[in-house]
Amino acid sequence: MRYGRIAAFLAVSLAVAGSTPADAHPRDDGSLRAAARGTGVRIGTAVDMSALAADAPYKQAVAREFDTVTPENVMKWEVVEPQPGVYDWTAADQLVDFARKNGQLVRGHTLVWHSQNPSWLTEAAYTPDQLRTLLRRHIFAEVGHFKGRVWAWDVANEIFNEDGTLRDTIWLRALGPGYIADAFRWAHQADPKAVLFLNDYNNEGVNAKSDAYFALVKQLRAEGVPVQGYGMQGHLGVQYGFPGTVLENVRRFDKLGVKTAFTEVDVRMVLPPDAAKVQAQAEGFGLLLRACLLVEHCVSYTVWGFTDKYSWVPGFFDGQGSATPLDENLQPKPAYDTLRETFQLAGR
Ligand code: XIL
Repeated sequence: MRYGRIAAFLAVSLAVAGSTPADAHPRDDGSLRAAARGTGVRIGTAVDMSALAADAPYKQAVAREFDTVTPENVMKWEVVEPQPGVYDWTAADQLVDFARKNGQLVRGHTLVWHSQNPSWLTEAAYTPDQLRTLLRRHIFAEVGHFKGRVWAWDVANEIFNEDGTLRDTIWLRALGPGYIADAFRWAHQADPKAVLFLNDYNNEGVNAKSDAYFALVKQLRAEGVPVQGYGMQGHLGVQYGFPGTVLENVRRFDKLGVKTAFTEVDVRMVLPPDAAKVQAQAEGFGLLLRACLLVEHCVSYTVWGFTDKYSWVPGFFDGQGSATPLDENLQPKPAYDTLRETFQLAGR
């Protein structure tokens, strides 16, 4: 009896320790990770696997500064299923192992998307039945492979247009809007404990796109579809100004009872940077983090790369860059200090 209770106590303690990776780094080492501890919001980064393998200071910074990681590319369909039914988990497994060693959780990214799909999938003329079977198999294979090792999944990525209509994709065309509910149901069957997210950009403030998500989340939950999270990528640019209704938007999802997260935050600028742009950038990073910290169920804030050395921005947005909190030499910018100070204030 007594031993049973002690054993139960130990099991609970171990389980709690195991589920609180922040405990692996109990010191306040001045990192974002230390500042975020106790706030209820995890701090994450996208990880570039080539950089992780080749760049020791980069690798040390991923381990020191963050308590969640997202694979920037290596869990995408074109990487994990390069041929039909042939899977390659090598790089994704490396990240998941790295995260486990460093007491970090993993955000899986992503299961259904219109981009970065293998050409065998997008270029062949599959029937709707065949496509549905391929999608189902892909989701069961991927979520099943990482079962118990991925904390949250971006199940459906970028499914709406700016005007709130569903994006025209191979999935919508062949399967109709029901593919979204199917994807969530399959992911949930494959790993019932993973937290399942919708994810998009330009959906941080209240607008036609986020209205469409709000309606969709309500509808899916009314139908019992296992949607548990609303992800806002947070790709901002100082030249556009920032949405003024982020807190209002996050609050309405929070009240619906779903988790929220900022999943890919970066704040780009037209190059070259100057003092005003760099200050505006810090405000953009801070604005999103404050909204997250001010609601109950915002669970994580992830930057889409933490150093300009490897940011995707210059390659995708002509003439723009300098979008992350650390420069090419891994030196902090005002944005980094804003993130740390904002977490510190919330943790007091
Ligand atoms: C980007 C990566 O950062 C690039 O390395 C890749 O070439 C293209 O995709 N929204 C998403 C992310 O959901 O997966 C994208 O990542 C950025 C936009």
